[in-house]
Amino acid sequence: MIETLSRKLTDQEIVFWKSHLDRNFIANTLFPAIGDHFRSSNNEVRLLDIGVQSYNRADKDLLNNNEIKFYGLDRSKHCDIPDDWVDMIYTDLSKPHCRGHKKFRQYFDAIIDYGVLGWPDVNQTLCNLDFTNYINNILHMLKDGGLYFFKNDLMGNHEKVRSFVCRHFKIKPFYDIANVTVGKYETFVFQKKLRSFELDGRERLKDSERATRIASLKVIDGDPRFFYDKFKIFASPFFGTPPAKEGLRIDFPIRPTARLPEGDGALFLFKVHGMVLESDFHEWCSSGNWTYWVHPTLGSVLDHFSVDIYV
Ligand SMILES: C[S@@+](CC[C@H](N)C(=O)[O-])C[C@H]1O[C@@H](n2cnc3c(N)ncnc32)[C@H](O)[C@@H]1O
Repeated sequence: MIETLSRKLTDQEIVFWKSHLDRNFIANTLFPAIGDHFRSSNNEVRLLDIGVQSYNRADKDLLNNNEIKFYGLDRSKHCDIPDDWVDMIYTDLSKPHCRGHKKFRQYFDAIIDYGVLGWPDVNQTLCNLDFTNYINNILHMLKDGGLYFFKNDLMGNHEKVRSFVCRHFKIKPFYDIANVTVGKYETFVFQKKLRSFELDGRERLKDSERATRIASLKVIDGDPRFFYDKFKIFASPFFGTPPAKEGLRIDFPIRPTARLPEGDGALFLFKVHGMVLESDFHEWCSSGNWTYWVHPTLGSVLDHFSVDIYV
């Protein structure tokens, strides 16, 4: 590792790599495994490294695979990028505009996100909309079935970050490092879930013609009712007791005999006056035959509340 790093990094940067457990994992295990994984590929492989500091200048070399087309991304310019990288993308992933880069739609075979979304200094500054933008940008740039290498620092609101990211990816068997804890860090090899829908930064459904609406619910005289349930999935929905008593909890029991549509779950769009207030992906298997949604304050606007469910 030292030999590889020393071709591009200063002595001080090498000391940094040697003195952190996660760096040791990146340099000696993760990057060589990624390089090896793509060695047998017949097609051109493009890899995106998110978060580029001066000490990342040797990242491509750690792959030990010169065939891989290596790209970097950061919101700010910290350092000179090595000549053997194809390109450097300067954009803020927490903003919606990144998806304006049409060229990069479904462009990368793999994205490495170590020390950015999973780093408390970054994730503690992000609101829910920023999170949605960030992950949508990743999903936009990553090919269907592409790999997302993610490190989550086990501090701060790491559980929230973990559950948010897990909604969009499934863990992919990858050597023996699909999901390992290294010191104070949890690392994942994720694969992009194949979904027929994508949300924009404001929780609206993009390319709605690609998604299939399977059910719609409205509230009539205070009672939630399905007006459309293509697969006859649900038994009668009802308002459960919300945790703080004054909010809203809506329960969607799933009929035990229901034939579930293909895919691992459905996207629920919760609306008030026809505008999407929140979207939530519910996996069919995660809560048995039941799924529900809670909102802290919505109790008073029930008549204007509706839900659309898509796969
Ligand atoms: C801890 S550093 C370096 C991460 C690096 N990938 C590594 O090896 O750990 C985090 C980097 O993420 C960048 N960054 C933070 N928030 C970002 C965002 N929303 N979009 C793009 N880059 C961001 C910062 O500019 C910084 O260079």
